[in-house]
Amino acid sequence: MARVLITGSSQGLGLLAGKLLARQGHQVVLHARNAERAADTRAALPAAADVLVGDLSSLAGMEAVAEQANASGRFDAVIHNAGVGDRERRRTTADGINQLFAINVVAPYLLTALITPPERLVYLSSGVHHRGSVDLSDPQWKNRLWWRGHQAYADSKLFDVLLAFGVARLWPGVRSNALEPGWVPTRMGGEGAPDDMSKGYVTQAWLATSDDPAADVTGEYFFHQRAQAPAPITRDVEVQEELLDYCAGLTRTPLPIVV
Ligand SMILES: NC(=O)c1ccc[n+]([C@@H]2O[C@H](COP(=O)([O-])OP(=O)(O)OC[C@H]3O[C@@H](n4cnc5c(N)ncnc54)[C@H](OP(=O)(O)O)[C@@H]3O)[C@@H](O)[C@H]2O)c1
Repeated sequence: MARVLITGSSQGLGLLAGKLLARQGHQVVLHARNAERAADTRAALPAAADVLVGDLSSLAGMEAVAEQANASGRFDAVIHNAGVGDRERRRTTADGINQLFAINVVAPYLLTALITPPERLVYLSSGVHHRGSVDLSDPQWKNRLWWRGHQAYADSKLFDVLLAFGVARLWPGVRSNALEPGWVPTRMGGEGAPDDMSKGYVTQAWLATSDDPAADVTGEYFFHQRAQAPAPITRDVEVQEELLDYCAGLTRTPLPIVV
């Protein structure tokens, strides 16, 4: 039995992965943005061991979630699932960070840096990361005249793969991988999403817990339990370092050294 934390698991793929892991006999800790959503989450999966609470659009919320996670004991795996999609409007958080960037990139970075390192880290990316671009002079789209949500989302999902691979390289004792779940009909995916919902939450649960040698790897990118080629730039160590430095500066929290 593994102890697994899944961020953003009040609904959608995070909740479905939690239900699958609970059915498999794992101890599942879910996470919701506030007390009301936490109550919904408990009702949706009464078998969950706990529901952590914190809004991942604010640094204080991210820190609160990390604190609760550490207080509850070490996890075997953390699935960084919480995210907002390409319909997100251009908004700035109380910390002065672009909201989509805060939730999709800063939150998985800061939670990784603050939560006691588990055995396995899993980051939800997307097939659209292949269309993402790395502009670390303006990763939050602050200096661009027009907001293009689909491009900002693609960029954020490219950053998630860079984050997974940077952590895999720097923390050799931790298996850190990224995946795309397919375009599936959750709230984010929309009703018309064409891919198979029943497969959309399996790979993250498998990467978090399976003894299958194919899941016992690090620094890989998956789709439906098969390793796939990610965008080549995600393998660029300098770019990984630039992103980690950028997030460390923004959060004033460097990634700790883990051997
Ligand atoms: N669905 C797809 O087709 C698809 C494709 C590729 C990648 N993905 C990725 O898969 C992951 C899950 O997406 P999904 O389709 O399951 O989306 P979803 O149904 O919209 O669920 C997103 C989850 O994240 C939570 N969340 C969002 N903002 C938050 C915040 N500020 N603080 C705390 N929690 C927050 C949501 O909580 P609330 O319910 O309270 O808002 C919800 O539990 C995302 O990382 C997404 O990028 C999805």
